Amino acid sequence: MTSLFEEVPTSVDADVPTTRVELKLNGETRAAQIEPRLLLAHLIRNGFQLTGTHTGCDTTNCGACTVLFDGQPVKSCTMFAVQANGHEVTTVEGMATASELHPVQEGFKDEHGLQCGFCTPGMMLSAKALLDENPNPTEDEVRWALSGNLCRCTGYQNIVKAVLWAAEKMRQDGSAGDEA
Ligand code: FES
Ligand code: FES
Repeated sequence: MTSLFEEVPTSVDADVPTTRVELKLNGETRAAQIEPRLLLAHLIRNGFQLTGTHTGCDTTNCGACTVLFDGQPVKSCTMFAVQANGHEVTTVEGMATASELHPVQEGFKDEHGLQCGFCTPGMMLSAKALLDENPNPTEDEVRWALSGNLCRCTGYQNIVKAVLWAAEKMRQDGSAGDEA
């Protein structure tokens, strides 16, 4: 009878070469010794235990794994972790301060921009990248910026409203275009 599962050793094969990566993750310098084939999403979630970065498809379709890479949104399931060496990565855990939500997070809360929440971290990081570059986006610009992020629950209406709410808040606070 054919088995569906094969036991694999739990330890890394001694012959597999590993490499050191050092990156700035949410403002902190972090380092790891990794196999070169490791994906950035897996380093973030399994290595650094930042599970706010979700993986929905592992094939660059859903955007749940979106993080900011030197300020630009990227799908972390599509990058090798070694590519992050020497770069800055921001995950959803890096958006709020100890006492305050990021305006984008507040917008999602106020405008009910989520239901199950699975797509939400990726949506919020794509939205943050947009507002850092364009403090006064039109609805179409918001929709375009979020077009790589799929949501299976909300119908998108409230997500767009949440981002426009955040844009307005950031303009009022004077934090528009401030990448901190
Ligand atoms: S998990 Fe990366 S795009 Fe879906
Ligand atoms: S809130 Fe459920 S997938 Fe977007």
